[in-house]
Amino acid sequence: MKGIIYILKRFLPPYKKYLFLTFTFNILTAVLNVFSLATIIPILQVLFKVNTKTYSFISWRNTDYSLIDTVLNNVNWYVTQLIDSYGGGFALMMLAAVLVVMTLLKTGTAYLGSYFIIPIRTGVVKDIRNQINDKLLTLPIGFFTEERKGDILARISGDVNEVENSVMSSLDMLFKNPILIFIYLTTMTILSWQLTLFVLVVLPVMGFIMGRVGRSLKRSSFEAQNKWGELMSQVEETLSGLRVIKAFNAESKISNRFHRGSYIFRKMSNRIARRQQLAHPMSELLGTLTIAIVLWFGGSLILGGNGVIDAATFIYYLTIFYSIINPAKELSRSAYAVQRGLASMERIDKILQAENSISDPLHPQPLHFQEKIEYDNVWFSYDTDWVIQDVHLTIKKGKTIALVGQSGSGKSTLADLLSRFYDIQKGGIYIDGTNIKDVRLQDLRSLIGYVNQEAILFNDTFYNNIAFGVSQATESQIMEAAKIANAHEFIMATEKGYHTNIGDRGGKLSGGQRQRISIARAILKNPEILILDEATSALDTDSEKLVQEALDNLMKNRTTIVIAHRLSTIKNADEIYVMMGGQIVEWGQHASLYAQGGYYTKLCDMQGNLQ
Ligand SMILES: Nc1ncnc2c1ncn2[C@@H]1O[C@H](COP(=O)(O)OP(=O)(O)OP(=O)(O)O)[C@@H](O)[C@H]1O
Ligand SMILES: [Mg+2]
Repeated sequence: MKGIIYILKRFLPPYKKYLFLTFTFNILTAVLNVFSLATIIPILQVLFKVNTKTYSFISWRNTDYSLIDTVLNNVNWYVTQLIDSYGGGFALMMLAAVLVVMTLLKTGTAYLGSYFIIPIRTGVVKDIRNQINDKLLTLPIGFFTEERKGDILARISGDVNEVENSVMSSLDMLFKNPILIFIYLTTMTILSWQLTLFVLVVLPVMGFIMGRVGRSLKRSSFEAQNKWGELMSQVEETLSGLRVIKAFNAESKISNRFHRGSYIFRKMSNRIARRQQLAHPMSELLGTLTIAIVLWFGGSLILGGNGVIDAATFIYYLTIFYSIINPAKELSRSAYAVQRGLASMERIDKILQAENSISDPLHPQPLHFQEKIEYDNVWFSYDTDWVIQDVHLTIKKGKTIALVGQSGSGKSTLADLLSRFYDIQKGGIYIDGTNIKDVRLQDLRSLIGYVNQEAILFNDTFYNNIAFGVSQATESQIMEAAKIANAHEFIMATEKGYHTNIGDRGGKLSGGQRQRISIARAILKNPEILILDEATSALDTDSEKLVQEALDNLMKNRTTIVIAHRLSTIKNADEIYVMMGGQIVEWGQHASLYAQGGYYTKLCDMQGNLQ
């Protein structure tokens, strides 16, 4: 119970208006139902001719009688009047007409009650999805190496649906069914408190038995949703790795893995669904049992002739009591749905409440870049082992430095640290003496442009992919950037030019074309600091020339960090840093470094002497 109230408190406030409307119409529905069923009493009395009393009209202003007595008496008076003047058949027809009209009103308000619950349902779901999405955008990159993408997708789809169901169920549980039950019970008490007292003893026993079934449902749901997330992760991997899977003839391996997972998921779902289905026959049985008991008890009272209740009223009483069964059943069903919803909410909260370790400082300092970038005694590890150790590095504004070294020596990591994709554990990184942890992330990142080996493009047009990250770019600026990046020509050769869609992740382009688009993007952003991480390594000599030309254009008058395996591309750097096992082991300009005859010389020689 605490769980749902917490969820409702978090997500309902924007929808108070609808909640109020639903609440009101639910009350109206219950009251109208009580009145529409009340027409049964005179109908039965007419049919069985049990009402032989004579009535006289009591003035509505007369205060000697209670309102209920006045109403009952006057209705009876009116019905006997009808019978006397037009006959029993006509009276029946009139009563039936009243029943129809009342039912029409009742179903109308019931419809409105559910009508206003719909915006709550869709709204809450929309809010949760948006919150997850926005949270994903703010979480540090490190978060996603631990969480699998498919699982996150499963949370956005499956778990949010579960929460939707459970929130709706709990709204029913809090704002509908209890009202109905309360109003029906009140009516029953007015009709006969003795019988109702008896009912009140029987009902809770039934509720207790129902409650026992739902205990372990939450845990099983949690496990099942986890399994579902795992399956979604596999699908995501299949989609993104299709090329490799086919090339390695691994279809059956992947297929088996998925089948195993979905078999387990099916078993879990069976267990949950069966337990849930148990609720239905059980409540049916228990409901009929209670009715039978009440029928027996009330019937004996009537047969005993002690005047507690007359036969027609007893039938009415039973129909009202029967109306309780449904909301009571729904109440127990809600309890199950809520359990599943709580399990899903827990999974969603793993994202929503994940701690964001990389965020803006409380008192951000202004960021200026006039002089230099400085890595001072920097230590960093992803988990246990140091990946960057004791790095000292100074990059003067406008200069180009190169990072070289074996694969896995920490070059990319060292560059990533500048954008605060990860936070370092020891030491500091400074721009003009200001620690990058003390400035706003947005200020920091707007200084830096990236071109990576793997160009990250979106399923959109050339135009939007280049304009990405720059909110107000004119068409001519975009074309200019594309021209500098040597991309203009091949873009114009496509069917719709700049407005051609480039496919998922740029799948319709060649590797070199993709890279030139991402260079055009960087040119348009015009960052002060440029990081080129293996920007040309995937290319053949022809396209490398085009891309290298594009890069040279981009690097003019800019502070640049170049990471390259092919040492020929970085020969002209102002300073070359050689990395090994996360440390900088040698540095200097190409000629003097080569002359040292150390590790750098070896690297150069392996690639065919660059002298
Ligand atoms: N997200 C990560 N989580 C854990 N360890 C990582 C992660 N990324 C990289 N590493 C590890 O950190 C080390 C340095 O990786 P990095 O990518 O910086 O190397 P690199 O010098 O850029 O290599 P390459 O030349 O192959 O690109 C490697 O040992 C790698 O296994
Ligand atoms: Mg790398």
